[in-house]
Amino acid sequence: IQTDTLPAPSCIMVIFGAAGDLAKRKLFPALYYLSLANQLPEKFAILGVSREDFSSETYRELMNRESRAHLDGDYSQDVWNRLVKCCHYLQGDFRDPAAYQALAKKLCELDDQCKTPGNYLFYMATPPTFFGDIAGHIAGAGLAAEQDGHWRRLVIEKPFGRDLQSARVLNRRLLEVFDERQLYRIDHYLGKETVQNFLTFRFANGVIEPIWNRRYIDHVQITVAEPLGVENRASYYEGAGALRDMIPNHLLAVLSIIAMEPPISFDADEIRNEQAKVLRAIQPLTPEEVLTHTVRGQYDTGVMPDGKRVPAYRQEPGVAPDSETETFVALSLMIDSWRWAGVPFYLRTGKRLPGRFTEVMIQYRHAPNAAFKRSVLKDRQVEPNVMVLRIQPSEGISLGINAKVPGQALRLSPVEMDFSYDDYFGHEPSTGYETLIYDCMQGDPTLFKRADIIETSWQLMEPILDVWSALPPRDFPNYAAGEWGPSAADELLQREGRSWRVCSAGDCGRKT
Ligand code: BG6
Repeated sequence: IQTDTLPAPSCIMVIFGAAGDLAKRKLFPALYYLSLANQLPEKFAILGVSREDFSSETYRELMNRESRAHLDGDYSQDVWNRLVKCCHYLQGDFRDPAAYQALAKKLCELDDQCKTPGNYLFYMATPPTFFGDIAGHIAGAGLAAEQDGHWRRLVIEKPFGRDLQSARVLNRRLLEVFDERQLYRIDHYLGKETVQNFLTFRFANGVIEPIWNRRYIDHVQITVAEPLGVENRASYYEGAGALRDMIPNHLLAVLSIIAMEPPISFDADEIRNEQAKVLRAIQPLTPEEVLTHTVRGQYDTGVMPDGKRVPAYRQEPGVAPDSETETFVALSLMIDSWRWAGVPFYLRTGKRLPGRFTEVMIQYRHAPNAAFKRSVLKDRQVEPNVMVLRIQPSEGISLGINAKVPGQALRLSPVEMDFSYDDYFGHEPSTGYETLIYDCMQGDPTLFKRADIIETSWQLMEPILDVWSALPPRDFPNYAAGEWGPSAADELLQREGRSWRVCSAGDCGRKT
């Protein structure tokens, strides 16, 4: 936890959907870490809003109980008390305009009671169907307009639409009542330290950038593997699936930072312009390419690496017994730019995979050294260099190089240079949300998504969604829980003479 950053400006954070999963698992743990780092505003209040019947007291107790399980490291009651000393609850139905009159009144009371200056951060932690209505009602109650130097900001969670059309409609609705500069479309992957470090890694190191292009890089793999199943989120996940849940947001966010051109400054729009350019340069798949360049899967029952047998997706609570929702997706994309022409970007993500591995792998081209090939390797190639940027866990970066095995004979062995965050910076517990909540309070939109970035990302998904909905999957379930997805995902790379990097428990980052 950084302690050298100033507390954020005083404000009230209003959480819509205050008793939901996101508030328990991510928002309160993130606020706790901000409190631990003394980065919460000096004058600060939290106002939880949802339909359930709680008093402020019972709401605080619920959040304490539920969010503690998601905290890493020692728990401090003092830190928690500091966080919730001005935490209140308001029961209300998001669809009812009267609820927003009550909200406006409550905010005035809290401003008096907690000495906050009338700055409001509205956080939409609700199901996405409510986003547009909530924004409209906030504005209807006069709470969106910024007056007398008081700011009003709206944080919108993902999923931001479920396709291009719905994303456009939502953007339009939001922009009818808020200015773009008041909108903070969150993608918590951009809040992860390791993802932010990609910028530093690429642009603060003279040795990296010159070889970060098609002349030296053979291909890039982005993996977000999760051992968890759908948990208790079937009502959302059944309608979303792995593609919508992860690709247009988290994986494309990572890709855009890995592949962007150097920005001329770290101003919010300079960085976002470069991200937008990369996304616009990705070639949308043709319908034929969707068949050959994408793979979808759904997990069957299986045994996880810890020996536990787990149910199939179709047996999970709330999931239809004949569900066609994908829990795994792999695809390959090409970026049509001077830097990346001809370099495939392979993306894969899935539930009930053998472990939690979130990483980017850069595979360099083979060294052309024929001398080794002829005399030492008997016609095999020298192993290519592989750089792995580990987003989580075991956060760090490693570079696989070839070394001579000591001894009289000339033998080569791949070895590794490894940087681990823990070794250098110690373990910093975080959810990815701390930076984003803090930045929103500060009014820094750099790590938030602009409307055009969201829409371009959905545009790239359109052909896939169209073909997939026209051709329902016939082989689901097609991978056992605990496996690396369906065999078609391996074939996707094998056809091009490549293979996925194998990550294994306790050895993430090391080539296996
Ligand atoms: C969320 C998805 O946005 O990201 C989840 O809805 C997924 O399905 C989660 O599990 C992954 O986030 P993280 O930070 O745990 O990698």
